[in-house]
Amino acid sequence: MIPSEPYRISQEMLFEMLDLPLPSKSEMAGLHVATNYNLCFKRPDARQRDDILKSVIEKIDADTQIVGSPERIDVWEKGWLESLSLYRQNRNLPSNGDALIPKFIRPNQAVRLNGDFAIPLVEHFESKMVAAIREIVFSHYFAEVSEFHEFGAGTGHNLLDYCKRFPEVKCFGSDFVESSVQLVREIATDFRLQLSASLFDMVRPDDSYTIGTNAGVFTFGSIEQLAGSFHRFIEFLISRKPSICVHIEPAIELYDATQLYDWLAVKFQSKRGYTSGFLPFLQQLDHEQKIQLIQVKRLGFGSLMMEGYNLIAWRPISKLL
Ligand SMILES: C[S@@+](CC[C@H](N)C(=O)[O-])C[C@H]1O[C@@H](n2cnc3c(N)ncnc32)[C@H](O)[C@@H]1O
Repeated sequence: MIPSEPYRISQEMLFEMLDLPLPSKSEMAGLHVATNYNLCFKRPDARQRDDILKSVIEKIDADTQIVGSPERIDVWEKGWLESLSLYRQNRNLPSNGDALIPKFIRPNQAVRLNGDFAIPLVEHFESKMVAAIREIVFSHYFAEVSEFHEFGAGTGHNLLDYCKRFPEVKCFGSDFVESSVQLVREIATDFRLQLSASLFDMVRPDDSYTIGTNAGVFTFGSIEQLAGSFHRFIEFLISRKPSICVHIEPAIELYDATQLYDWLAVKFQSKRGYTSGFLPFLQQLDHEQKIQLIQVKRLGFGSLMMEGYNLIAWRPISKLL
């Protein structure tokens, strides 16, 4: 029987979206996922859906952003500087972590969910979904690591979440702009975290950056920003032999462009120039037995314009010398 509207996303649905095994009841009780967020939505009626499609097409037409262009460095620097000053203003408030939710996660607009648009019935639906997905991914993939590295960490909201959950793990955040590094450093001090931050350009990886044994590597929407120049970063990771690398990133290859709904996302992603070819590159490395591709899962969830949240996990294969 199809449940009637409004729909609510359950814990089980989230695990199914991620194609990860449901944990035991006691482990589940330790997670905030879904229940705490009341993730309710409805489907648009025919007229509303037409309006959404029209607005998507208008946004694609009007969009001028070019991912990875030189002026984007300045845009990120200024964007995270704004977040830094907002964070400082809210430093002593219990809600200070809210200042870290990046502005590109739009608070109250239609989202993409399971093959169609959805109209959220709770505030901040997208960022709540992101928090729920991240929580499951962290507890599945990064519960046993000794170090945790996020590259392209932005405001550091993922790092803060990870450090609170796993306070015994040494954490490292990096980004290619100073304002992000400063923000992560201040969070580390304020929340007394085992977290350090550094400048790191994923397009030109710094050979002096070290990754210790049994490390986990995480990216969330930063490979997408490299406009396809991710090869050196992946080679750098393979050389550092982390235990696990997990990416939550868009992947143009996972859409079915014969469907209008997907085709619009493909059009938007290609117009902006978000990274493409990342997944085929990993598949090729897997074929060459340089890495083991562990998981590729299209979540079917995204913002209005594209699905930025696919789950990709792999590990380097250590060759015996
Ligand atoms: C979409 S944001 C994601 C930020 C964060 N991971 C999150 O989940 O909110 C992309 C991030 O990638 C960073 N970035 C863009 N190009 C980069 C590069 N070449 N090297 C390192 N970071 C980069 C930006 O500064 C920004 O923080």
